[in-house]
Amino acid sequence: MSKQKILALLRQNPEGYTSGEAMSRQLGISRAAVSKAVSGLRQEGYDIHSVTNRGYRLVSGPDRLTAGEIEPWLHVDHIGAALECFETIDSTNNYLKREAHRLPDGAVAVANEQTGGRGRLGRSFQSPKDAGIYMSALVRPNIPPERALNFTAFVAVAVCEGIEAATDLQPQIKWTNDIVLEKRKVCGILTEMSIEGESGALQSIVTGIGLNVNQRLEDFPEDIRDIAGSLAMATGKPVQRGRLTAEVLNALDRMYAAWLSDGGDYLEKYRARCLTVGREVRLLRADGRQEPARAVAVAEDFGLVVRHPDGREEKVTSGEVSVRGLWGYVD
Ligand code: BTN
Repeated sequence: MSKQKILALLRQNPEGYTSGEAMSRQLGISRAAVSKAVSGLRQEGYDIHSVTNRGYRLVSGPDRLTAGEIEPWLHVDHIGAALECFETIDSTNNYLKREAHRLPDGAVAVANEQTGGRGRLGRSFQSPKDAGIYMSALVRPNIPPERALNFTAFVAVAVCEGIEAATDLQPQIKWTNDIVLEKRKVCGILTEMSIEGESGALQSIVTGIGLNVNQRLEDFPEDIRDIAGSLAMATGKPVQRGRLTAEVLNALDRMYAAWLSDGGDYLEKYRARCLTVGREVRLLRADGRQEPARAVAVAEDFGLVVRHPDGREEKVTSGEVSVRGLWGYVD
């Protein structure tokens, strides 16, 4: 307990030194207890400088996905207000779906590793330990299911905003919801809805975000090495995952309030980030057919308007097609 309190005091004074005596007075504990807490924090991986007669300064924290590393940056009303962190789990989406009956609206699960991470279309999602952020949120909006079809697009914008708040990166969105940096996919989103069979009412939504943060190119399996990337590959330096997790949750929380009301300006934000528009693409139809087209716009409902070589325009949805660049993932 003292350790968390000492950490909080050190965080309040990131640039300067905080004296052991001041901390012991403020917390009502002995000087020996302060120095024991500091040793404990160092053992957990916190780099704490000490200078005689000046005190202690927190230089950096360990890159761990714990409540202690996320909560200092977290400012949410709803999404993430109930936060559970796991060292290892099968899948954060599975966890929230399994435990939905007892979890509050807005509950979030974050994991340092997934042993059964799932992607879209029944694919698996590689979730190696200490490298990425694997997190899911559970919400129970009181709306008709068809109004929830644009939810993932809103989540994609929020994830971009979270990345932008924690780094100097400017992610883009490849339609419909892959997040892209330097033409590589750095994040995928899997949204699953539960609908009551009898009434057709929307019961809950679980949205899962898999963010590649500190992977190197060689960490990705060979079959996705041409298209996968990480934030660290784009910045050229490691990214602190605790703060990034909190910033993504802050952005999700803001987004959810807007989504429930009138949608705010998220369609415009999505359009501004969508790198697919203006590109020659290949439409991959569900029956295996592939067609070249030009992506010309994102429609009001987040469908993609494409122009076929004969000039005909068509609006496609993510249920009907996936989109690739003419030669690769983006171009
Ligand atoms: C995709 O690009 O196909 C979507 C990937 C979604 C992965 C995330 S990681 C957290 C959550 N738990 C899962 O099992 N999947 C999602």
